[in-house]
Amino acid sequence: MVIESQHPLVKEKLTALRDINSHPQIFRSLVNDLSTLLCYEATKDLQMVENSVETPMGTAVGKKVNQTVGLIPILRAGLGMVDSMLTLIPEAQVWHIGLYRNEETLEPVSYYNKLPQDPTVDLCYVLDPMLATGGSAVATVDVIKKWGVKTIKFVGLLAAPEGVKALQEAHPDVDIHIAHIDSHLNEIGYIVPGLGDAGDRQFGTI
Ligand code: PRP
Ligand code: URA
Repeated sequence: MVIESQHPLVKEKLTALRDINSHPQIFRSLVNDLSTLLCYEATKDLQMVENSVETPMGTAVGKKVNQTVGLIPILRAGLGMVDSMLTLIPEAQVWHIGLYRNEETLEPVSYYNKLPQDPTVDLCYVLDPMLATGGSAVATVDVIKKWGVKTIKFVGLLAAPEGVKALQEAHPDVDIHIAHIDSHLNEIGYIVPGLGDAGDRQFGTI
């Protein structure tokens, strides 16, 4: 399932994020805000159990989440989405996956993975602002499935139709939560109109 956000605040903040004049401090703040809004939507089917607490007036029968959540930011650009998700789910585990795209082949190259042998979470949110060819997302989901986690969701900011198709074909069970699906990829694999290089713009490395 592909869930493209229709929220007015997502649309407004995404527009500011794309703006070439949004310098890294603003860019990081917008990535953080957008991730909060998308996290709200992406977590709405977390499993819960009953949890009663005592209020000053009596007993309130409430709920608590009973799934262990893993956040999987794809380095580097996914890092900017972690803090907002951790604010909402403070007990989540964060497992980093290091991948970069080979600029000529556009294939993902793995450089960091410290997952332990056995899975330690019930479900994973793969975090990456950009779903371009989809190669990085597909490779990351491959790794997580091999680790043994069955419930996986992708949370991103911008996608190209090519990336959505690639991820859906490789992993039809993985829901894609995205702020917007753009027009297309250009000849060097960048999303158009997109926002440029999400890693460089967050970390000021242009
Ligand atoms: C960017 C982005 C994704 C990937 C998307 O990372 O953050 O991880 O490209 O492209 P794909 O869908 O075609 O795989 P990049 O390789 O630029 O690395 P960085 O985050 O370290 O800058
Ligand atoms: N990675 C980015 O950062 N931007 C794109 O448009 C494509 C891949």
